[in-house]
Parts: sequence; structure tokens; C-alpha cells
Amino acid sequence: MADLRKEIEKRRTFAIISHPDAGKTTLTEKFLLYGGAINLAGSVKGKATARHAVSDWMEIEKQRGISVTSSVLQFNYDGYCINILDTPGHQDFSEDTYRTLMAADSAVMVIDGSKGVEAQTRKLFKVCVMRHIPIFTFINKMDRDANDTFDLLDEIEKELGIATCPVNWPIGSGKNFKGVYDRNTKKVMTFSDTLKGTKEGVETEYEIDDPRLCEVIGDEKKDLLMEEIELLDGASAEFDMELVSKGELSPVFFGSALTNFGVETFLQHFLQMTTSPLPRNADIGQIDPFSEDFSAFVFKIQANMNKAHRDRIAFMRICSGKFTAGMEVTHIQGGRKMKLSQPQQMMAQERKIVEEAYAGDIIGVFDPGIFSIGDTISTSADKFAFEGIPTFAPEHFARVRQVDTMKRKQFVKGITQIAQEGAIQIFQEYNTGMEEIIVGVVGVLQFDVLKFRLENEYNVEIRLDNLPYEHIRWIENKEIDLDKLSGTSDMKKIKDLKGNPLLLFVNSWSVGMTLDRNEGLMLSEFGRN
Ligand code: G4P
Repeated sequence: MADLRKEIEKRRTFAIISHPDAGKTTLTEKFLLYGGAINLAGSVKGKATARHAVSDWMEIEKQRGISVTSSVLQFNYDGYCINILDTPGHQDFSEDTYRTLMAADSAVMVIDGSKGVEAQTRKLFKVCVMRHIPIFTFINKMDRDANDTFDLLDEIEKELGIATCPVNWPIGSGKNFKGVYDRNTKKVMTFSDTLKGTKEGVETEYEIDDPRLCEVIGDEKKDLLMEEIELLDGASAEFDMELVSKGELSPVFFGSALTNFGVETFLQHFLQMTTSPLPRNADIGQIDPFSEDFSAFVFKIQANMNKAHRDRIAFMRICSGKFTAGMEVTHIQGGRKMKLSQPQQMMAQERKIVEEAYAGDIIGVFDPGIFSIGDTISTSADKFAFEGIPTFAPEHFARVRQVDTMKRKQFVKGITQIAQEGAIQIFQEYNTGMEEIIVGVVGVLQFDVLKFRLENEYNVEIRLDNLPYEHIRWIENKEIDLDKLSGTSDMKKIKDLKGNPLLLFVNSWSVGMTLDRNEGLMLSEFGRN
């Protein structure tokens, strides 16, 4: 029991969110470097090589040289057992990216200091806010000319609606980047280059009133720093751990992942501030992570690792207790007892079979096609189910047509199964049957995945005609009569597979207009399962 508690307490499970190119991969590499999980930073990615090796599970990934799904990395550092959930960027952004955030206890938001808040960060941030998880900000690329620091913080507060509290403060940026001032210890850590981050940098610390500091950073910089600190102490939000825990205040750090500056300090502060696995909501109340009973929920299903067998891997987040290979568990939604087969975990770049895992960990298990997103697995005598995972708003829509209309059955079967796995969402015209199918995806690549999988697994060829809609809303109040709804001319009424009504819009302005025109109408960007 004491061991169980100790193992769970040292776990930290978080996601890194950012816009592509902000430096998420580079930062992850440096974390692994500190954890001793890799010898030379730079080998996680090497874009086409190592990164690829962790997740080249789908044929389409190999063809495109990108990772379709998010991966999980586990490593140890300073007595902590860390699970990093990767949220893929670029065109491989998908609903899975959002779902991954459901498995995290906190998030690290990486922002490029010269770009500020960007589109993908904004989207992922919304999901973190919905979950009220702590969000830590790392403003990266300070070795390049960055925006004014006060402006950056202002932008985060205004654009994302979260208060910020800088834990450290940068001294200059770009060629003039001299280091950071730690507001807590009142010490300055000076910046030294580290051969592009391939070795751990020498970070020298000075007391703020050490005369040597002026020699290193220059009198002018020192004066400016003193002014800024004064301004900051007067203007910025006070550090309040409770607000941080609720996701209402984000501690902010500055650094440069590439040159390895400020990364370890950030990691240390972050690990101390963020929590070990927290209780999770279920239909019988909260489930204590330290419970003796093992429990987990499925947050991602990855299909077709092996074409011949149509294997799938179900990724689950352990929420309580300990998992031991070969243990008998109950799959609540399937209503039966089973053994989880071929459980695996990612250690740095390697995938390996897990013998045991604890609350906070993520494991992938072989799925013969029985699991669905959100399913609960447990050894508890109480048959409870964890709170479901919401459906996230797709942003791209297309009408699907079969090329060969004779294969209707396979087509419906294939597209329904792929939708059940959560790779795509399917909708129908409001007043018709299955003849017209509209597919919605979070990232456009999912259209290709759908086409590829229908052809390869179900032998069905399809044509996709893009639709102009970009915004979807679930109707929260069931009593609304859809026939009487007064919408804008670009609005389209559709329904999901369960018959729930939804609205599609070409632009966000129309969403507001429709809300204005229909008193009491409540629209949501998340669908509830
Ligand atoms: P991502 O995962 O968020 O998409 O970003 P990634 O780490 O791949 O970084 C994107 C680019 O930014 C990379 O350059 C990377 O080297 C660079 N970068 C990351 N952190 C810093 C930093 O602190 N300072 C500076 N100056 N650059 C940084 P690239 O040339 O696109 O890729 P690569 O060929 O170096 O891999």
C-alpha cells in the first residue's frame, strides 16, 4: 500500500500544447536529455528518423513521413516519473489531439516569443480550460528577437483569458539575450550557448546585487531589469497556487529550448508546482487514484497497425491503483471480464511491454475491436463508468459519395466503424436517411485517412466533395423545435448518428446571429457522449 502511494505520488502526467514550430519537440528532447533517457538531444525527432520510429504504425504515416497519432513518452527525472503526452501539430492535427488532453493532469503551453499566441495553441487551450487543469507557459526562442515581454503577457491574458504570473523574467532577447531573473530567489541566471543544445549548458547564477552581474550583462541592461522588476511587482498577478491548480493563473517561464537555456529550471519548478494524479469523475462520484483497485479509461484508439489482422491499439489512462500484466479486469461498457493483452508503453523512443503501471500512466493494449473511446476498465467490485469524453468540433466538412454504388453495405459498415473509433465524425442531412453522408474532421488529413482506410480495409472507393462549413454547434436545449429555428442563409441543419440535431455554419458571425435570432437557444462547441 505504501509502495502504491509512493509510486503514484511521483507521477506527473502532462501534455505539451503549442502551435507548430514553437519548439514543442525541441523542449521535449531537452526534458528527455535531463532525464537521461537519451544521450544526445536531437534524437527524438530528427524529423524523419527517430520520431518516426515511435509511431510509424499506420501505412499512411510511412507514406507521408508524418505522425498521425500522438504518442506518449515516459522517463524519470529527479525522483519523478514523468509521462509526456505529445499533441501532434501541422496537418496531422486531429480529434485525437484534443482527446489526448483528456488524459493529462496539466499542460505546458509553449509559445514562440516572436510570434505570441497562435491558432493551434488557442484551440488546445480551450480544451484545457474546459477541464480546469493547470497550464504552465514556457515562452521559447528567447535567443531570437522576441516581442516585448509585457506585450507577450498582455496578449496571453487578452487572447486566452488566463491571468499570468512570470516566475522568471528575461533580460533582453535575440543577440542581446543575457539570461533570466528568478523573481523568487532574486537571482539572475546568465545565458551561455551550448553547442545548439547538444550538451548541458553552464548556467551561472548571480545575486541581483552582485557587482559582477553588471560586468556580464552591462549597466544599461541591469538598470532596465531593475525598472522592469519594479513595474512587474506592481502590475502582475500575485502567485497563488490555488488559482494555478484551477487553471486560472498560468506561471510563466522564459528560455530557449534550442540552446538549452532555462529548460531545467522550468522543469524543476513545473514538477514541483503541478500535481500527482488527481481523482477522476465517475458516475458513482470521484475515484481516488490511490485506491487499491485498478481503473482506467480509453482515450484513443489507433487502428490498423497490422493490415492482415486489422489490429487496433486502445490507449488508456490509468486513473487508480496498479496495473499488472495478465490481471483480470472488467470492461464496463462491454459487460465482461477480460485480460488486457500485449500491454505496452513508450519509454523515450522505445515501445516495450509493460509488466506493471500505476495511476497516471498511459498504456496501450491490443484491441480486438471491442473498445470505444471513453470506455472504463477496472478491477473494482463497484461497476462504475468514468465521465465520457466529449466530441470535439470538426472544422472541415465534406460530402461522401461511393464510386461504386453496389458496395453500399461495406461502405456503411466501414464508415460507421471508422467513426466509432473516433477518427472522423459522420452526420446526415436533417431530414433524410443514410443516403447523404457528411463527414466532419478536425484536421484535413483525416479525410485522406478515411479514403485510404475505406479502400484498403473495406475495398470501397469514395469521392469527397468539400463543403464550405467551418463551424459546428451542438444544440444544448432539447426542447428547441429545429423546424422553427430561424438561422442565417449559410446555416445547415444536420444530425449525428444518434439523431442529435446540430447546426453547421460557414462563418462564426452567423453563429452569433443565429443565437441573437432565437431566444433561449444554447449552442455548444463540444458534444456530450
Ligand atoms: P514543434 O515541435 O513545436 O513543431 O517545434 P520544433 O521543436 O520542431 O522546433 C521548430 C523549429 O524551431 C526547429 O528549427 C527548432 O530547431 C527551432 N527551435 C526550437 N526551439 C528554439 C529556440 O529556443 N531557439 C531557436 N532559435 N530555435 C528554436 P527547424 O530549423 O525548423 O528544424 P530543425 O531542422 O532544427 O529540426
